Formats: sequence, C-alpha cells, structure tokens
Amino acid sequence: MKNIVILISGGGSNMAAIVRTAQRDSWAKTLGARVAAVISNKADAKGLIFAREQGIATEVLDHTAFASREEFDTALAQLIDRFDQSSEPVLVVLAGFMRILTPGFVNRYAGRLVNIHPSLLPAFTGLQTHQRAIDAGCQFAGVTVHQVTAELDHGLILAQGVVPVLHGDTADALAARVLSQEHLIYPRAIAELLQHL
Ligand code: GAR
Repeated sequence: MKNIVILISGGGSNMAAIVRTAQRDSWAKTLGARVAAVISNKADAKGLIFAREQGIATEVLDHTAFASREEFDTALAQLIDRFDQSSEPVLVVLAGFMRILTPGFVNRYAGRLVNIHPSLLPAFTGLQTHQRAIDAGCQFAGVTVHQVTAELDHGLILAQGVVPVLHGDTADALAARVLSQEHLIYPRAIAELLQHL
C-alpha cells in the first residue's frame, strides 16, 4: 500500500477533499494507496479534528519548539518516514502547510512531494495571492498543483484550475471561488501522480 502523508497548518479543507475522494473512489483498491497520516505544525489546526474523526493517524510537530528550520525539518522527516515503506515510497502532500522547507527536506522527497498554491503560477508566488491578483487587474485567477523544489512555489506544474475575477471581488470572495477549484483539482492530481509513483 502506498502511504500518503498530508501536512497541514490550518483548516485542512484540501486535506478533507483528498480524504473524501480517496474514500469515494476506493483508492485502496484502485490505486493501492491510502491517507496514512495527517501532520500539523499547529496543535489547534482545525483539520486535525476531521482527520481524527476519519480514524487517520494525526501528529503535531510544533515548529516553535525547534531552534532552527533544519532541526524542525529533520524531526518532520523522521515522523513522515514512519510511514515510508522500502517497497512503496511515501507521497508527501502539502495542503495549506505554511512553512518554508529546507533544501535537505525537499531533496529527500524529490518527485514525491507536492504542493497546492492559490495562484496561477508562475504568477504570484508567496502570500496574499488573491489581493495581488485583484490589484494587478487580473481577469482570471486560479490554483496550481506543483512538484516542490527548493525554490518557493516553483517546480513542475502538475495541474491548474482557472476561475474568473469578478467585478468588485474582494480577496475573500476570490479565495472562496479558488478554494472550490482546489478541492477538485488536488485530489485529481494526486490520483494521477499515484499511478506513476
Ligand atoms: C489553500 O488555499 C491553499 O492553496 C493555501 O492555503 C489554503 C489552505 O486551505 N496554500 C498556500 O497559500 C501555500 N502557500 P485549507 O487548509 O483549507 O486546505
């Protein structure tokens, strides 16, 4: 069985969409894959509640307890590797995980570490993507699923979803429109990736 480990920091709605799709489409049978664990760097991440309700193993690793980024990432990799089997490498899915990862961590999981970013990359890397898209006068915005590399919000694009920017949009309204696309394309992109892993 291929183990999927999902990293979150907050609401976890993308994680929930992936878990629900895995159940609905019987990934265990069709893809030989399962969501094995959800790890958060924040103890109060709401997504942890959903994951526990689904009977998924959860872990909290508080980044503020570590002196450096490297030490946190080393501890994170140790947690993840509990779900790594020699025959079936773990797939690491960043779903609203608001941490910059070190090159050492990224290289360790090269080719099996993916992220979802709420913009049409390569436009608007980083934060406040929706407000920046509105301020720039973009008529379309969206979301990108990509392989993670050492450079923030770069890496091979696996899937994108596009939504219109409507007249008078606020960042919150646009974010909600984009998020509903995220819930469709992220599970789809992961299923695709699992077939080639
Ligand atoms: C999502 O919009 C995701 O694209 C974004 O955080 C949100 C998490 O929502 N990720 C980033 O901004 C990463 N740079 P969720 O916790 O409900 O899935």
